[in-house]
Amino acid sequence: MKGVILAGGLGSRLHPLTKVTNKHLLPVYDKPMIYYPIECLVKAGIEEILIVTGGNSAGDFLRLLENGTDFGLKRIHYAYQRGEGGIAAALKLAEDFAAGEKICVVLGDNLIEKNIRKAAKDFEAQEGGAKILLKEVEDPDRFGVATIQDGKVIEIEEKPKAPKTNLAVIGIYMYDSQVFQFIRELKPSARGELEITDVNNAYIRQGAMSYEVLDGWWTDAGTFDSLLRANEMVAGGGANKMDA
Ligand code: G1P
Repeated sequence: MKGVILAGGLGSRLHPLTKVTNKHLLPVYDKPMIYYPIECLVKAGIEEILIVTGGNSAGDFLRLLENGTDFGLKRIHYAYQRGEGGIAAALKLAEDFAAGEKICVVLGDNLIEKNIRKAAKDFEAQEGGAKILLKEVEDPDRFGVATIQDGKVIEIEEKPKAPKTNLAVIGIYMYDSQVFQFIRELKPSARGELEITDVNNAYIRQGAMSYEVLDGWWTDAGTFDSLLRANEMVAGGGANKMDA
């Protein structure tokens, strides 16, 4: 399985922190934010990684990460996203890189305490389709929210005003190569973006979506409050310590 990190966008919810730099280059405790998703994929045994970026300071990723040798990688692949079109639009740029293989997609501002080794292994063994990871949260209206019935995800709602459950869909997604076909069929949402939730619902309709509930803490870092929480969690909870 190959890895794709989505690290573009304008980070407008973090202005003025992101006025001149890219959100994923901001510090989270003792490392730039982008280090965490890279380490997450490397710890899951993924060796081929593409970073999709754009917006401010896109060239700084190359200066910071170089060829990825500090992470034990032979090289890092880069793709440049013009403008902003949503998560699914950014993912579209990974089609050639994926070359028909399964992919694990990580949103560049998502941090987890432990690792996704088991989920990745389970998905490798899964015939095809997709897998998402869920986490109980106190503020589900900020996220994609999953409804489970008889052990299956039956629906995901993007930022619902009245969430049916407290199970947030975290920004780590595993897909087979059909994902690019689903992206081609998407229509922009009310906020004018190609939504990853619509991609996930396409897999659900096909009966091809599995899920696991994540062990350990998870947070995004795209708002002032969640960026602060990410710093506190890493400082106190040791994200990506080698034994995690
Ligand atoms: C995105 C997804 C949402 C998911 C979240 C995880 O939200 O649209 O479904 O739960 O990432 O971080 P966004 O950060 O674009 O608001």
